[in-house]
Amino acid sequence: MSAELHAWKPAGEQDLIDVCDKTRPRCPLAHNEQLHWAVLRQQEARQVLSDHSTFSNKVSRHVSVPNGMDPPRHGDYRRIIEPYFGPEPMAEFRPRCQAVINQLSQRLSGEVELITQFAEPLSLQLQCAFMGWPDSLHGPLRDWTARQHAATRNRDSIALKALAETFDGYIGEQLTRRRQQGKDAPNDVTTRLLAERINGRALTHEELVSLIRNWTVGELGTITACVAIVAHYLAAHPHIQQQLKQDPGLRPAAIDEILRIHPPLLSNRRITTKEVKLGDTLLPAGSRLTLLWASINRDEAIFGNPNTFRPLENRPHNLLYGAGIHVCPGAPLARMELELTLDALLNAGMLGLISGKTPVKAQYPAGGFSELWVRVE
Ligand code: HEM
Repeated sequence: MSAELHAWKPAGEQDLIDVCDKTRPRCPLAHNEQLHWAVLRQQEARQVLSDHSTFSNKVSRHVSVPNGMDPPRHGDYRRIIEPYFGPEPMAEFRPRCQAVINQLSQRLSGEVELITQFAEPLSLQLQCAFMGWPDSLHGPLRDWTARQHAATRNRDSIALKALAETFDGYIGEQLTRRRQQGKDAPNDVTTRLLAERINGRALTHEELVSLIRNWTVGELGTITACVAIVAHYLAAHPHIQQQLKQDPGLRPAAIDEILRIHPPLLSNRRITTKEVKLGDTLLPAGSRLTLLWASINRDEAIFGNPNTFRPLENRPHNLLYGAGIHVCPGAPLARMELELTLDALLNAGMLGLISGKTPVKAQYPAGGFSELWVRVE
């Protein structure tokens, strides 16, 4: 058992990544009140990811499409979701994605607060553009994401319920308008989702809102964190920045590696359906687990020194987008957005940190930074 992780509290002073680094060499699994059984190493993580009948995703009584589902139901929804992130829709969305990034990159000059001036508007604009939503949703969705993080951190179930209703209000309006427009509805992702069928029936309103909410959280929470982490890494490592300017072919692997070293998505949950041995711990049925990506992707048994930048060597072992049946369906979209964003950051000039303006880390469950000043020249 680990004293550090035992004492760790979300929003506490200690950085979760540092606590995991101290804990992982001594124990593969650690317990605390917030995370329950935290999986810290890759070997145990792979056991969890490959055995979905023992490690169930049904961690809550609320519908969560497809995150909170197990087979066979999970597969029915994945078959609907995956084509939205296939090569054709990605190629179709690419010019729009590029236009959003080009327009926001004009702000990358002089001293820039990267979260509010670049990363947040970027993920909001990309999400609305991808789904076919109006710009008027940018502000409400930004505030909703911040409140969602705070409620999750505080385990405030009343606030989380109210936030689910607020999201339903925003997205319900988009769905209702398209239903009313019928054949005249815009040909966008939201309209196409309305036409999907599962086992011969349309998706219920609750299923649609949940599915869209999980995509929105993937984009707004995780992409914002990723952009800030990549920008910070470039600013803090000028030699790697130079290397990437000179070698565009290395950029996709470099993004995955930077996000391995500094994880944007900190955790996901599971619950055991039967007694099982994980590491050297015998877990009874009904045990709650947290897959701590913040630790799993920094496991020295796999990567050696977790902070060493080795993009090509480490890529095959990187669990950035998960593995198994719940592997991230949005990964092709995330990869395209991040590759275009990295190109824009590198084209903007040389990024550097500003002395006296220390980056502020985001609080769990958000990853990355809440404030990040960089100089671009
Ligand atoms: C760099 C950004 C992203 C990272 C690092 C990331 C990472 C992950 C990981 C690790 C999982 C597996 C969770 C588990 O095993 O419980 C996952 C699942 C998922 N991600 Fe992402 N994600 C990203 C972006 C996105 C985007 C942009 C979307 C959608 C637009 C998205 C939608 C989802 C969904 C719906 C699932 C659940 C899949 C399932 O349960 O079958 N993600 N993501």
